[in-house]
Amino acid sequence: MAERGISRRSFAKAAVAIGGASALVACLDRGESDPIPSGPADLSTLPSRQHAWNESLPTDEHGNVRTPYHHLLLYYDYDDGETTAGATTPTNGERETVEDALRSLERAYEHSSDGLLFTVGYSRRYFDRYDDSLPESVDLPRPEALAPFEDPERDEADAVVHLASDRPAVLLEAEEALRGNRETVNNREMRAVLDDVLTFRERRTGFNGDGLPAERDDVEGVPEDAVPEDAPLYMGFTSGFRGNQATEDRVTIQTGPFEGGTTQHVSKIRLHLEQWYEQDSRSQRVSKMFCPAHAEEDRVEGAGHNLGAASGANACPAHVKDARESGVVGHAQKNATAREKGAPIMLRRDFDSTDDDRAGLHFLALQREIGDFVKTREAMNGTDAAEASSAVGTRHNNGILQYMTVLRRGNYLLPPREKRALPRPS
Ligand code: HEM
Repeated sequence: MAERGISRRSFAKAAVAIGGASALVACLDRGESDPIPSGPADLSTLPSRQHAWNESLPTDEHGNVRTPYHHLLLYYDYDDGETTAGATTPTNGERETVEDALRSLERAYEHSSDGLLFTVGYSRRYFDRYDDSLPESVDLPRPEALAPFEDPERDEADAVVHLASDRPAVLLEAEEALRGNRETVNNREMRAVLDDVLTFRERRTGFNGDGLPAERDDVEGVPEDAVPEDAPLYMGFTSGFRGNQATEDRVTIQTGPFEGGTTQHVSKIRLHLEQWYEQDSRSQRVSKMFCPAHAEEDRVEGAGHNLGAASGANACPAHVKDARESGVVGHAQKNATAREKGAPIMLRRDFDSTDDDRAGLHFLALQREIGDFVKTREAMNGTDAAEASSAVGTRHNNGILQYMTVLRRGNYLLPPREKRALPRPS
């Protein structure tokens, strides 16, 4: 079978990116037919926080949580996309349909990376159709540019569903069922269809896992044989160490009607890997990703799995000092300055992508307030480092800014599970 001119093997590898029923068949043909564990009969045993995934994910020998290998983002609007305050608001019957569809997935698949993990989030524009406003305990601004040198488009779909699993077939099957293209999921009845209430707009896909980017180096913008075999991400380094991630508690909203929820930022980023791999030496890449001291002391072996449970970025010299003395500042080094009382404030669950047949990354992060994301992104801009040294520019020698372009940004509220179906603002 050839699909869009590619071999059967490549088709199975790219199945999540391609999507649809024939991609699902290709996955199953490839041997992905081991039984998939099903979910609990009693759904009240599931966590009330939609973002409580860590307990259900595997950890490595250092206690680092491993994010699922495959990811899917489904964007939906409640109506025709023309909503303003006072426009149509969801009915209780529609809430029930959404909840039934989500519960069907929970019954069908174990809450794990071998089964399925998912969240549903809502944008500011979704809530603006109501007369009431969101409570003060929720910080959910419309998305905007966060650096003087970027001009992203705003993602303002009403809702986004983030699905994640180690099994491509699970994502494809769940998507087909939500869209009404199949009646069962993991041999269980799909009791409702999301697309009966919501208008599907767009899908985005990706992956994060050792070896997956190297296997997917046949898209535009990836130099041949450049991506290391042991790297979970295209830029060649591992990310998401236990010591450098916020806890789920830290990102949880503590008060008000959305107590137990969180906020999600999702940006679509294009990566410039030709520059990254062909213009810089490995030592420069380590300086720019971590900090110059990591490069000088040869602290990072391969993709950096040897670092253990923390990147060590908070122990790097002050970034402004490095800007003056080394003429380079590191990405992790700058971002660590946004911590609060020494502890990270953002929980990153980002993943690489071949969407648009280009190397990219969907930067998905959870934080109690979108303001925590904005503050971290300001730290990443490294304006103070650029002002302190002529060698550091707005993007040049300034972490990884030169190697990425933010194309789109979106902000969402992930309500607690009980309020996840078309929530009211209060
Ligand atoms: C474009 C692709 C990106 C790649 C490949 C990447 C990679 C990395 C790596 C390798 C680390 C060090 C290891 C770790 O701490 O997990 C790190 C740290 C970090 N990155 Fe990124 N990153 C990217 C974009 C971003 C963006 C857009 C943000 C948003 C502001 C961000 C926020 C952070 C934070 C908060 C840390 C941890 C800082 C701390 O230790 O407190 N990263 N990143």
